[in-house]
Amino acid sequence: MGKKTKLQKFSENRESSNVLEAGKPIFDNVKGKWNEYFKNENDIVVELACGWGEYTLALAERFPNKNYVGVDLKGERIWKASRTATQRNLSNVAFLRMYINGINELFKEEEVAEIWLTFPDPRPKDRDEKHRLTNTYFFNKYRQILKRDGWFKFKTDNTALFDYTLRTLSEFKIKDHVFTHDLYNSELLGDHFDIKTKYEKIWTEKGEAIKYMKFRFE
Ligand SMILES: C[S@@+](CC[C@H](N)C(=O)[O-])C[C@H]1O[C@@H](n2cnc3c(N)ncnc32)[C@H](O)[C@@H]1O
Repeated sequence: MGKKTKLQKFSENRESSNVLEAGKPIFDNVKGKWNEYFKNENDIVVELACGWGEYTLALAERFPNKNYVGVDLKGERIWKASRTATQRNLSNVAFLRMYINGINELFKEEEVAEIWLTFPDPRPKDRDEKHRLTNTYFFNKYRQILKRDGWFKFKTDNTALFDYTLRTLSEFKIKDHVFTHDLYNSELLGDHFDIKTKYEKIWTEKGEAIKYMKFRFE
């Protein structure tokens, strides 16, 4: 069979039970009910800007006693991620196709045990600061859905975005904050579980050091 078209992929997303997107009843009803959706009481871990879902998928295989939700707006990337989850029989994975801006409509306060943000677009232009997924507006959203003591973990290749994020966080009360500008040569390497996302592979091959931080909100 030939390559699937974008429309075929979008149509499959509409049929896939592990894809949640606008237009499906579950999308409007899942807030506060993620454990019902997964049919267990296990922790919910969210990966923001998941792209093709490599991190979500690999973590879900590694930690079957946690539930993983990858979030991205791009339907074709979500399609690939969803298909891989189905092929690997992963029942602890779901994908949300949506703008992260609306994340509080999908998760209730403190519903999420851990958040990963992996290689978001750097958006270097001043006028695009509003789109940076580590600006004050977005961190206020993440803080609401994250459990007290839940970890926020962030990886990027982009030094300017990383340093911008450090400055943004100085406006927040956070604790246990640790970070490195060179993850692979750091004692924090264990946090990365030897899993590389697509963008992580691209940038490491170009010789860019990976920056990483984690913290909890107070
Ligand atoms: C550079 S890619 C990184 C993908 C993946 N995490 C990786 O490391 O390979 C950034 C992703 O963020 C998504 N994205 C950017 N802004 C978003 C937003 N406001 N809501 C949802 N997804 C967004 C894009 O669609 C894209 O897939």
